[in-house]
Amino acid sequence: MEKLLLIVFAIINSVFISTSAAREFNFDGANLHRRSTDETLCNQLIKPAGYSCTEHTVQTKDGYLVALHRVSSRNKDQGGQRGPPVLLQHGLFMAGDAWFLGSPEQSLGFILADEGFDVWVGSVRGTYWSQGHISLSEKDKEFWDWSWEELALFDLAEMIHYVHSVTSSKVLIVGHSQGTIMSLAALIQPNVVEMVEAAALLCPISYLDHLTAPLVLRMVGLHLDQMVLAMGIHQLNFRSKILIDLLDSICDGHIECADLLTSITGKNCCFNSSIADLFFEFEPHPSSAKNLRHLFQMIRKGTFSRYDYGMFKNMELYGQLNPPAFDLSLIPKTLPLWMGYGGHDSLADVTDVERTLKGLQGKPELLYLENYGHLDFILSTQGKEDVYNNMIGFFRSLGKYSSS
Ligand SMILES: *[C@@H]1O[C@H](CO)[C@@H](O)[C@H](O)[C@H]1NC(C)=O
Repeated sequence: MEKLLLIVFAIINSVFISTSAAREFNFDGANLHRRSTDETLCNQLIKPAGYSCTEHTVQTKDGYLVALHRVSSRNKDQGGQRGPPVLLQHGLFMAGDAWFLGSPEQSLGFILADEGFDVWVGSVRGTYWSQGHISLSEKDKEFWDWSWEELALFDLAEMIHYVHSVTSSKVLIVGHSQGTIMSLAALIQPNVVEMVEAAALLCPISYLDHLTAPLVLRMVGLHLDQMVLAMGIHQLNFRSKILIDLLDSICDGHIECADLLTSITGKNCCFNSSIADLFFEFEPHPSSAKNLRHLFQMIRKGTFSRYDYGMFKNMELYGQLNPPAFDLSLIPKTLPLWMGYGGHDSLADVTDVERTLKGLQGKPELLYLENYGHLDFILSTQGKEDVYNNMIGFFRSLGKYSSS
């Protein structure tokens, strides 16, 4: 049993160590927790590229202090006139930095700012930019007692509310991966969707039972989620030195380590491997073990439901044996939706995307890219031409926004 656990840890950890460059990355203790105060997302990635950037803190109803970053192009910021607000919501084990890792011509965060949008970037609780709470510390296990359900209904809902009230405007939402699960769950809530103008979903996920990523399926089969929780691990932080060392000793010989990013996310056509150093400087961000468990429940059961606590606690919490489903048909038909998905995405499988589409009342605009994998949608070298121009065209077609 112990040996199995070690191997499993090595597997999940090695997901993020798929290049030799990353292996040489110095995962020292300083990286385990939030960086020093001047090491902010604005200072590290956004201002150096010549964009203006301000930091905002939003307090969620359950007491978390989460970061929002507001970005605009230097060129567009002079007249005081800001474009329509757009909120970017990142995926699992990532944070707001994920939208800024490529060049300004390649990265959606910069592109939207250059196109005159008022760009707001969320980072959910537990990521390096959002480790505050009114009473808990990230060392407390209670700090990690949440899954994407709370990220949707507390973090994202509060961020939308904040942007809506600062800008006095309805908000455009862009989500990637887990950010789309969160978006869909949030848009079902009438008090949230009323603040939203439209949503663009990259690699949309609500169902996960056709996921094909071999490494993820292996972890599900090994019940990694239950094991981690049974061991009393509540924060999933893949930068710990123990796990890196374990990986080095176990990885060779047991699994093919050269191409682990592919065996998680699918074959990415257009991810520039030269940015791996930068990528691993920021990713992976921590998440919670409970969140992993919730995602694995979706993979096992093919449901888009609230967290499954088991029959007795479900009965107590929900008044029924099984957790209630999130009903996609409650998203208003009138809400404009856009979705970009890929034929090589082994997490947001085409079959599952089609099931999501069937569940919705409205008909989203669709962009299907046969050769795109899961990471290409945020890190492609030609994302602007392949994906973002189309998305921006959708935003502009809503009629409310003149081209700037
Ligand atoms: C890949 O990344 C490197 C390093 O940032 C950069 O010099 C190069 O231009 C990039 N290639 C493409 C096709 O964007």
